[in-house]
Amino acid sequence: MTIHKLMVKDIRNLESLTIQPSPFINILYGLNGSGKTSVLEAIYLLGLARSFRSNRVKPVIRRDQPKCTVFGQVRHSGSAMLNIGVSRALQDENFQIRVSGENLRSTSELAQHLPLQLINPDTFQLLEGSPKERRQFLDWGVFHVKQRDFIPLWKRLQKTLKQRNSLLRHGRMSSSINRSVLGQIRAELLVWDAELVKASESVHQLRQEYFEQLAPVFHEVLGQLTNLEGIKLSYYRGWDRVRSFAEVLAEGVERDIQSGFSHSGPQRADIRVKMDGINAIDILSRGQLKLVVCALKLAQGLLFYQKTGKQCVFLVDDLPSELDAPHRKALCSILQNMKSQVFITCVEQSALSDCWLPEVNVKVFHVKQGRLEANEQIYPGREIRQAESLEIEHE
Ligand SMILES: Nc1ncnc2c1ncn2[C@@H]1O[C@H](COP(=O)(O)OP(=O)(O)O)[C@@H](O)[C@H]1O
Ligand SMILES: [Mg+2]
Repeated sequence: MTIHKLMVKDIRNLESLTIQPSPFINILYGLNGSGKTSVLEAIYLLGLARSFRSNRVKPVIRRDQPKCTVFGQVRHSGSAMLNIGVSRALQDENFQIRVSGENLRSTSELAQHLPLQLINPDTFQLLEGSPKERRQFLDWGVFHVKQRDFIPLWKRLQKTLKQRNSLLRHGRMSSSINRSVLGQIRAELLVWDAELVKASESVHQLRQEYFEQLAPVFHEVLGQLTNLEGIKLSYYRGWDRVRSFAEVLAEGVERDIQSGFSHSGPQRADIRVKMDGINAIDILSRGQLKLVVCALKLAQGLLFYQKTGKQCVFLVDDLPSELDAPHRKALCSILQNMKSQVFITCVEQSALSDCWLPEVNVKVFHVKQGRLEANEQIYPGREIRQAESLEIEHE
């Protein structure tokens, strides 16, 4: 996917701006607080109708404004241009999404149009954070690669699990009061468990298939980024490897009733990363962990392309402060070989000036709050080129 035109209104400190990005590499540079991350926020909002920094919409909307809007012209090679508009208002928790004149009701439909991969300081939590983060990462891939099968299954799984947990809570409350109610709940659980087993096995199967495709791509990308032998990824399905899920549920039912929730199942799935058999987070340096996360994200973009013929857009926030020069260069080299559209922010644009091949289309934007600023950039093997500035207009 490529964003051909981006228009932003009232997102964080961006009052009104229009840019026509390069289909390949876009560098946004400027002082701290100039609005670089805000531009990435705007693109993220266009792809997912939410912020990557906050669950609330208020911090994203420019101070004292009632709503924010982002509009993009987006196309993937060989198909028609899509006009996507996303608007979020202070007074309304809902969003307004329009794609080529049609209102969309779900963000999952929107996400299909503009698949994004974000690399920022928070994404380095992927390995250190809870399994939920890695599950979401895995499900991004399953969703984008096996969309049609995955969404209805995933919804069915959530619904069944919710029902089961509510029965378990009910069972926990009744266990000390009324034995016959508890018996009834056990009987009802049997019915839900049959449904849950079906949905769980299917979700697991899709996740496993995807994981098996991702792992070799990850190792290849990691090898291009750094020399880290001994890293091994494994997928945990949420229950043990030996027994069937039906057996696990049946054996654990009393414990589940006592605690009022389901202990095992695909809601516990995880990707485990080990180095020579030891958890990667206990043995790797922070810099090495970052490289592993970058390799996971790049591999996901690469696999998405291999499986669907579509590219995702990469948003990379403040790359120079995250990686040292040789690794930064290696990451940029992989990004440009992938031919994806990339938006990278940095403070000093010279930090990225030697990272690109002469033939790659690089656009440089100087983000300077509220002003139009042009300056000249020299790249090795290139002619002097004019940096485009963000057109930040005051009304
Ligand atoms: N809702 C908001 N309304 C107005 N300004 C905001 C809002 N949220 C953040 N800002 C300001 O926007 C500026 C740009 O932030 P940011 O995009 O994170 O800068 P950077 O260029 O360092 O990435 C900061 O000065 C920040 O305080
Ligand atoms: Mg920033």
